[in-house]
Amino acid sequence: MELKYFLKNNEICPISEAVISLFNIEHSYGFGVYENVRVKNSIPFFINDHVERLFKSAEAIGLEHQFTEDGIIKCTKQLIEKLEIKTLNLKMLLIGAKERKDSCLYVLPLSPHFPDEKFYRDGVKTITKKYERWLPQAKTLNMLPSYIYYSEAKKNNCYDVLFLDKDDCIIEGSRTNFFAMTGKTIITAPEERVLSGVTRKHVITVAKKNGYDVQEKTIAINDLKKYQSVFLTSTSSKIMPVRMIDKMEFAGPTKELKELIKNFDEYLKSQEAA
Ligand code: PDD
Repeated sequence: MELKYFLKNNEICPISEAVISLFNIEHSYGFGVYENVRVKNSIPFFINDHVERLFKSAEAIGLEHQFTEDGIIKCTKQLIEKLEIKTLNLKMLLIGAKERKDSCLYVLPLSPHFPDEKFYRDGVKTITKKYERWLPQAKTLNMLPSYIYYSEAKKNNCYDVLFLDKDDCIIEGSRTNFFAMTGKTIITAPEERVLSGVTRKHVITVAKKNGYDVQEKTIAINDLKKYQSVFLTSTSSKIMPVRMIDKMEFAGPTKELKELIKNFDEYLKSQEAA
């Protein structure tokens, strides 16, 4: 699959120009925010939510820029058309500058990531680390601890690393939101403590519509055994059942979790048709 173009400041450019100077101090110091958007059948899923969150993240770190939500969405759709590839991921990267007019927006095409089918059937393994992201609601380039802990998780055949706060409550994954479930009751950490995942938001909507009770509160790792199942959400994972957290094992997805996965897949299909 050849991804030949990308967007720089809303202009379609050849991918060979997708480079950043070593002298760009804002990039080296991580003064930037980003998003990952899933494109299927040429439809950028929940693009409004992603661009809205990109702007919220920028605001959270005082990154001023000259872009508009509508402008980015329009040009991103033009990029997708020009790429002639219907299924891919798009990385949106907004880098700040000393002056507002010099901030830069890049939209880069990436090969899509599809988790193994058996992960959905059996659940995935995860590890935990004590760590809380700074400005949890912002998706910034401040990624070093997440990168290091995620690499350790991968080396141990784990799908993600889950972050514990100072009270040993599970807050979120390094790239996923975290949920625990018993029967039709679902618990997830409060929105202000986590990255407000686009998938998290839509899963909550679908769950409530289908009669699930969703409560926002943290769960101490020692209380997790009280729950029947645990799952993660993210753009590329959708709803991913968890089988192991460190040495704690959970049974495969319950009937209620399977039902929720089915409801959410149907919801995603309805978004394609819309
Ligand atoms: N990560 N929590 C964190 C800390 C994340 O970085 C992400 C997204 C999520 C899930 O958000 P969403 O449902 O909007 O994808 C939760 C993306 C995939 C990434 O790091 O590339």
